[in-house]
Amino acid sequence: MPSTIETEIVNKVNNLRELLHHHNYRYYVLDDPEVSDAEYDRLMQELIRLEQAYPQLVRADSPSVRVGAPPLAKFETIAHSTAMLSLDNAFNDDDILEFDRRVKRNLGTDCGISYTAEPKMDGVAVELVYENGKLSAASTRGDGVSGELITANVSTIGAVPLVMQADQGSEFPSRLEVRGEVFIEIEAFKTLNQERVEQDLPPFANPRNAAAGSLRQLDSKITAGRPLDIFFYGVGRVADIVFESHCKLLQSLKTWGFKINPLIQPRITVPAILQFYRQLSETRHQLPYDIDGMVIKVDSLQLQQKLGATTRSPRWAIAYKFAALQETTVLENIEVQVGRTGALTPVAHLAPVSVGGVTVSRATLHNEDEIEKKDIRIGDAVLVQRAGDVIPEVVKVISSKRSGQEKKFSMPDACPVCGSPVVRTEGEAAIRCINASCSAQVKERIKHFASKGAYDIDGLGDKLVDQLVEKQMVSSYADLFKLDADSLAALDRMGAKSAENLMDAIESSKQISFARFLYALGIRHVGEHIAVLLAGRFDSLNQLTNCSEENLTAIEGVGPAVAKSVAAFFRQTNNLATVHRILNSGVQILFETLAPTGDFADQTFVLTGALKTMTRRQSKELIEAAGGKVSSSVSRNTDYVVVGESPGSKLAKAQELGVAILDEAAFKHMLGAEK
Ligand code: IVH
Repeated sequence: MPSTIETEIVNKVNNLRELLHHHNYRYYVLDDPEVSDAEYDRLMQELIRLEQAYPQLVRADSPSVRVGAPPLAKFETIAHSTAMLSLDNAFNDDDILEFDRRVKRNLGTDCGISYTAEPKMDGVAVELVYENGKLSAASTRGDGVSGELITANVSTIGAVPLVMQADQGSEFPSRLEVRGEVFIEIEAFKTLNQERVEQDLPPFANPRNAAAGSLRQLDSKITAGRPLDIFFYGVGRVADIVFESHCKLLQSLKTWGFKINPLIQPRITVPAILQFYRQLSETRHQLPYDIDGMVIKVDSLQLQQKLGATTRSPRWAIAYKFAALQETTVLENIEVQVGRTGALTPVAHLAPVSVGGVTVSRATLHNEDEIEKKDIRIGDAVLVQRAGDVIPEVVKVISSKRSGQEKKFSMPDACPVCGSPVVRTEGEAAIRCINASCSAQVKERIKHFASKGAYDIDGLGDKLVDQLVEKQMVSSYADLFKLDADSLAALDRMGAKSAENLMDAIESSKQISFARFLYALGIRHVGEHIAVLLAGRFDSLNQLTNCSEENLTAIEGVGPAVAKSVAAFFRQTNNLATVHRILNSGVQILFETLAPTGDFADQTFVLTGALKTMTRRQSKELIEAAGGKVSSSVSRNTDYVVVGESPGSKLAKAQELGVAILDEAAFKHMLGAEK
């Protein structure tokens, strides 16, 4: 019982919790952190250590629940105390004018109504219940009447307050049901998908699916690793407090620590709503998250109540949806492009059509299976879709428009660029040109080598690369470092000045980080994320090139496909020769040594057991580089014991003394190496 625990410990745990709640709010809700990530992690580890040592102190609202709880066998179902309704849709200004007239008619008034207009988040609706200021349950919308209980998963979302704030002197209700939309920002979604592809996992179709899939994990530790975010937009039943208006309600939610979309327009009239809609339609693609329209709500809660709801939707709100980013057009031809790994990709040439304000004339068809599955034929009327800045794609064929003149398409059995045979590997969707010297592959490899995430050579655009390869001035990316200003100046659309600039850009690209260097090589399955991961695990290029497939697989985050591809790349003598030519041209790889940030200043670590991804020497160096000390035995002065496989008696000793225990993942997280 807590009473048997020294007050000092109880106070320490309470202080840590308060600090962590505060820093969490600053970081996730206000986007204005006061401490470094390392400092936050350290406080969290300290709290976890104390909670492990004193399980009596564990509480459901402790910040430590953000790292996830033990997996569930299945989700429980929970009834919403008031139904989570849908919204009626409006598609044009007239629909909004009609909505406004309907509201007035229902209220029997001619007076102007004050509305609130909000971005309609394209995510997943959830309801959170707070009892006496503490998060007690969270559920999905489900069928609107009841949903699935996903409390552990929702608790991992940084922007979700586990404890409501009352520091502004404001009272909070004894029970609050608050509703919001969980989403994933577009950039975070792209990174997540990139990581999944690199690990041979299927990518999510869009940020909404990724958010929904992440919330539906039975193991909340998986959810904890997903970049989920939330905006709150309303309430269910609320005890004790009667709000006057929707905007006052949002204001209160904000002071209690809930994240509210800053674009919300409080108390506006119909003309301003229509103007806000235009503004949002134009700027929505610059927002960091997807929205699919806006929601207009009668501001007065008294009037909302008067208006009531149908079984499906409230009469006091409406969703003004954006025009769908889909359009129909004609597929005029299918061209086959050859990528840097030799993969043949069918690309649709479309009759140009404006989709959400952008003219689309090309769309990817992915691969042969996709064409077959959708039964796409040349001459078909097709539905095309553009999602964010993703490459447009053909959603489906409008088969009712078929005339019978449409032509079936089949992939060529020779490379359309070099004529070499093509192969399809068992279990893969892609057909590949087997000739590594195929000019299309060479061009694409060089473009990749010079691209932003790789050497980032300014002025070396696609057209120029095409010319360089066609004029046989380069046949490998290593040749780029042999170019001279005079021959560059003689190329089409080049002059002395541009040639000079390009030479300068090539020269300054020669100092390159290990991660970029690896990414630039264009090894299959090695995207930016895997490149960073590998660069963090090896001290030299030699170490990596000599690493066996088996040892590569042992690295956390490196799947079998990646390991196989990396090992195969460095086994090929011509690849090794190219790498050496690059290095002999004066390219200098900058190996990452962890900057001595002092984040571990005065912290003592003890290492026991073998870590999978680094040697004892490497972990010691990393700790010391960050200002920490490594000691050989565990005592009361030890801050952390890092435990690998087959740990010795030091683990038992650490448990006995209540010293924080870090497994490999937690240790690397602290080092910041996983970010
Ligand atoms: S209010 C009674 N506000 O849209 C309806 N909903 O089609 C209360 N949504 O299930 C919904 N952003 O998932 C509201 N600012 C916002 C919203 C929003 C997104 C979603 C929500 C809801 C769906 C209704």
